[in-house]
Amino acid sequence: MPSVFETAPTDSAIPITFATKSTWAAISKALPAQARQFALANDFTAKPGKCLTLPSPDGQIAQVLFGLEDEASKSRDLFRPGALPGLLPPGVYRFANSPHDTRLAALAFALGSYRFGRYRKAAKPNVRLVPPDGIDAADIMRMAEAASLARDLINTPPNDMGPEELASAAQALATRFGASFNCIVGDDLVRQNFPLIHAVGMASTRAPRLIDLTWGDPSHPKVTLVGKGVCFDTGGLDLKPAGSMLIMKKDMGGAANVLALAQMVMDAKLKLRLRVLIPAVENAVAGNAFRPLDIFKSRKGPTVEIGNTDAEGRLVLADALALADEEKPDLLVDLGTLTGAARVALGPDLPPFYTNDETLAENVARCARAENDPLWRMPLWPPYDSWLDSKVADINNAPSGSFAGSITCALFLQRFVSDAKSWLHVDIYGWTPSAKPARPEGGECQAARAIYKLLGERYG
Ligand code: BES
Ligand code: MN
Ligand code: ZN
Repeated sequence: MPSVFETAPTDSAIPITFATKSTWAAISKALPAQARQFALANDFTAKPGKCLTLPSPDGQIAQVLFGLEDEASKSRDLFRPGALPGLLPPGVYRFANSPHDTRLAALAFALGSYRFGRYRKAAKPNVRLVPPDGIDAADIMRMAEAASLARDLINTPPNDMGPEELASAAQALATRFGASFNCIVGDDLVRQNFPLIHAVGMASTRAPRLIDLTWGDPSHPKVTLVGKGVCFDTGGLDLKPAGSMLIMKKDMGGAANVLALAQMVMDAKLKLRLRVLIPAVENAVAGNAFRPLDIFKSRKGPTVEIGNTDAEGRLVLADALALADEEKPDLLVDLGTLTGAARVALGPDLPPFYTNDETLAENVARCARAENDPLWRMPLWPPYDSWLDSKVADINNAPSGSFAGSITCALFLQRFVSDAKSWLHVDIYGWTPSAKPARPEGGECQAARAIYKLLGERYG
C-alpha cells in the first residue's frame, strides 16, 4: 500500500475544515463572502459526514468543508474523516483545523484509502494528506499497511487463499523481517502430534498445515500469537446452509489479523520474542471427512468428542494453543472467527475478548478505546464449563444447547492453556458487512491495532 501521506512541499495542499453543528456558525462567518454564499446555496449545515468542496474564483477547489458530530455527542465517530478519501477528487489535502482526534482522523484517512484491487482495476482514490503536525505518520502508515494486509488476505477468494497460499503469505512476512519459518504439512501433523488440526483439514484436497514463525531476540519476553486459519468453512458434514456459507472465506480472519499484528510488531522492532502459530485448514466435505461422534485424542492429552463438525475453529486452535503453551510464554494471544454467537451478543464491530488476567483485561480495554479498535470483555464463566462435558470422552467440542456460545467456545479453548503466564482470546468477526468511514465493506482488521498498542506499552 503506497503511503497516503504527502511529504513534499505543501503550500498548495487544499485545506479541509472540520465543522460541527455548533462550530459551523463561527466557521461560516470567517469564510470569504462568496464561499459562505456557496455553502448556503448548497444547504451545507455541517451535518456529520457531509462534504462540500468550495471553488475559488478561477474554478479550482479552494477548500473543503466536512461535517463532524458535536464534541459532546454520544454517537461521535472518531473515524468519520475516513470517508474523505472516497469523497474527494484526487489531490493533496491538509487539515485546516483539528478534528476531534487528529491522530485517529489521520489513521482513518489512511484506513479509508484501502481498495481491494486484485481482481479488477479498482479506482484507487489518489487522495493524499499532508501529515498533521505532532502525529507519528510512520506509525500510522504501519497500522494502515497492516490493516491492508489483513483485508487483502481475507478478501482474497478461497480458491486463491487455501492453506498453502496462507502459508506463503506468512513465509513472505518471515522473509521480509528475517524471521524463521517452519510449516508442518499433511500427515506430518499426525506424526508430530497435531491430531485435531489433521482431523479438521484432512477432507480437503488442499493439505492442512501448521504455520510456525519465530522472530526476535530469544532472551526477550515470549509473546505468542495464534490465529484461526480456516481458509473456507463449509461446516463439514454438519454442512452450513448456503446463506451462512456465503462469507466463510473470512474464516481465516484470525490468521490474517495475527499476521497483521506480527507485521506491526516486527516493523516497530518491539523488544519481544515473537512466535506466530497458524493452523491453516479447509473444513471440507468428503468421504474421509471427520464426523459428528468421532473422538480424537488432542495434542495436550484430553480426548475430544465431536459434537459438531462446524465447531472446527476451536479444534484447530486447541492443538496450536497446546503447542504455544508448552514454552510457557509471557503472553499468549489467540484470534479467531469462532462463533456466530459472538455476533448475536455484540454485533460485527465489537468483538468480545476473554482473559482471567485482570490487569491485562483493563489494558486491553483501554488500548482498544485509544486505537478506536473496539473490544468488549466477556467472562470465562466457570459454571458453564461443565456444559462441555461428554459422556464418552474428556470434552465435547459443541455443547448441545445454544446458550452462551461464544463463552463456551472460550471455555473450550481454556482447557488447552495451562502454563502461559497470561492468555487473551478474542472472538473476532473479521468482516465489515456494510461500508462505514475508514471501514470499507469486506475483510477487516480487528483487534490487531489494539493489541499492537498494548504490546508497544509493554515491550516498546
Ligand atoms: N466460522 C464459524 C463462526 C462464524 C459463523 C463466524 C458466522 C462468523 C459468522 C465457526 O466455525 C462456526 O461455524 N461456529 C459454530 C459453532 C457451533 C456449531 C457450536 C456457530 O457459531 O454456529
Ligand atoms: Mn464452523
Ligand atoms: Zn469456522
